[in-house]
Amino acid sequence: MSNDQPTFSIPPELCDVLRSARHVVVLTGAGISAESGVPTFRDGLTGLWAQYNPQELATPRAFARDPKLVWEWYLWRRELVSKVQPNAGHQALVELERRVPRLTLITQNVDGLHQRAGNRRVVEIHGNIMRTKCFGEGTVIERWEETGEIPPRCPKCGSMLRPDVVWFGEALPDQAFNEAALASLACNVFLSIGTSGLVEPAASFPLVALRRGARVALINPEETPLLSENVDFLRGPAGSILPALLRETWPNS
Ligand code: OAD
Repeated sequence: MSNDQPTFSIPPELCDVLRSARHVVVLTGAGISAESGVPTFRDGLTGLWAQYNPQELATPRAFARDPKLVWEWYLWRRELVSKVQPNAGHQALVELERRVPRLTLITQNVDGLHQRAGNRRVVEIHGNIMRTKCFGEGTVIERWEETGEIPPRCPKCGSMLRPDVVWFGEALPDQAFNEAALASLACNVFLSIGTSGLVEPAASFPLVALRRGARVALINPEETPLLSENVDFLRGPAGSILPALLRETWPNS
């Protein structure tokens, strides 16, 4: 069967554990925004990294070498994201937050679509493309004078401004990392959705949950390294699988 046909069946045991879970953790990657029209990073020819070299755009060195190129690339991505809408996969996670006592939604995405869909507690471990910060002091800057200089300058210290996202080689925001790690240690169910599972430390969060006895499921159209573990695999697009998972878990709703 071709890769794009949902081949998923939903294990009844997953629905049972989800229905009785006190704390659910969801980890999302670029795949959950794919059906909204936001390119992923590593998908074949459509992924961002197929068209651009991440080492030339998403690193502090790249920014120091050509700040104008990096700033304009993020401006392009910001405009793209501001024009798209959350999809059925995002909406299903808003419903999930209503259904379970506690949901920790950890996202590697910087597009802000989970918040726009209506999720209240979103842990953005890679930052948010709609936010801007000072390259020198790291403080979030909301307003600055447009002088035509690209990138614009911090009104407080004069350093260049940059997107408030985590670049390759940079540390994750402490608070976001700690919240994600603690939730992974404490949850009953961990759903890994739309991520290739290649970037640390996010790739280790489901393994932490598994080692603590949580039920772990991968929701993705293609296999990822997580499948080497004893996890459920719901193969297909999040926009189809997540609504089906909620329907089968809470059928009389
Ligand atoms: P990737 O592009 O590495 O992986 C996206 C995953 O989504 C792939 O496994 C696809 O098969 C899957 N996918 C595609 N369409 C889907 C759909 N409709 N529903 C569900 N899944 C789908 O993106 P990430 O795993 O998010 O880091 O990448 C992780 C990090 O690497 C990103 O946060 C970024 C990048 O470097 C930073 O920017 C720091």
